Amino acid sequence: MELSEKTDIESLRDTILCGDALEILCSLPSESLQMCVTSPPYYGLRDYGVSGQIGSELSPHEYISRLTVVFREVRRILKKDGTLWLNIGDSYAGSGKGAWDKPIAERKKNKQIYHFYTTDSTSAIPKVWDGIKQKDMIGIPWMLAFALRSDGWYLRSDIIWEKPNCLPEPVKDRPTKSYEHLFLFAKSCRYYYDQMAIMEEVADSTVRRYKSGVSDTNKYASFSKTQKLFRGRTHSEMSLMRNKRDVWRISTNQQKIEGHFAVFPEKLVEPCILAGSGEGSIILDPFIGSGTTGVVAKRLNRHFIGIDLNPQYCEMARSRITETEE
Ligand SMILES: C[S@@+](CC[C@H](N)C(=O)[O-])C[C@H]1O[C@@H](n2cnc3c(N)ncnc32)[C@H](O)[C@@H]1O
Repeated sequence: MELSEKTDIESLRDTILCGDALEILCSLPSESLQMCVTSPPYYGLRDYGVSGQIGSELSPHEYISRLTVVFREVRRILKKDGTLWLNIGDSYAGSGKGAWDKPIAERKKNKQIYHFYTTDSTSAIPKVWDGIKQKDMIGIPWMLAFALRSDGWYLRSDIIWEKPNCLPEPVKDRPTKSYEHLFLFAKSCRYYYDQMAIMEEVADSTVRRYKSGVSDTNKYASFSKTQKLFRGRTHSEMSLMRNKRDVWRISTNQQKIEGHFAVFPEKLVEPCILAGSGEGSIILDPFIGSGTTGVVAKRLNRHFIGIDLNPQYCEMARSRITETEE
């Protein structure tokens, strides 16, 4: 399909567009979508098997600049009250993993070839940069958050995705990393955020406190008397709810999605979509990979537009979304 700024966004509902995120985003109309939830490639970690992929730039600064331009387009496309929910993890300088391994030309034949941003087979990501030593945690999430804030986004929350089943790491000189960031950004200072849709239950200790102090005058008891329904909950139930906290404990996927190794859990995406959009909205994911955002959007009676550079992932996302709809 030929895309242009004049393309009617509704005609792209529930489609996966295959190509470079920036190129495709540039051709989508301004102020047309409510929210974006996404997980871009992390710096220097994975090979998604396509030239032009993000994540293999020769310095963290180049990587951050590239993502800043991508998310500038996302901001243009979002409605004035739109939000961006951005999942991102950190990297260690010179870790020897992924793109820090040898340049393509020096690798053993059986080793995975890392598709660099450049096509130069002698290039490899350096192990140090000005001010960053080998073994340093680079601080990618905050570098990106500050870059996006300077670029005009409102940085509203740093949600910690705690992984109770994180992978063990072969390290003996620091604790094992068991979390990633999920930043909430807004296009404007006032924005769509359905607090009620993602309320959580109060702690058990609070319930006990309420119940032990029950009297005719206290809040808990008076709410139980009215029993008015609020979004399917009685007022007494509502008094046992609280605003969602910013540490989310969610296991990484137990079942691997065949053929994609960096899939985020549906449970991570769910609260973002519930709080960031109403039913019928179209959710954007410019790095949709195996299609998780599309699967959750459809289950929650929303629509999606997904983008990925790797044609195999695009196909995978299409069939995964169709299968879960059946
Ligand atoms: C971390 S994965 C996203 C996984 C996804 N959240 C899921 O649940 O499957 C990042 C994705 O970005 C894609 N990608 C890398 N560079 C890209 C680019 N320049 N434009 C669009 N997609 C790109 C990769 O192919 C990969 O599928």
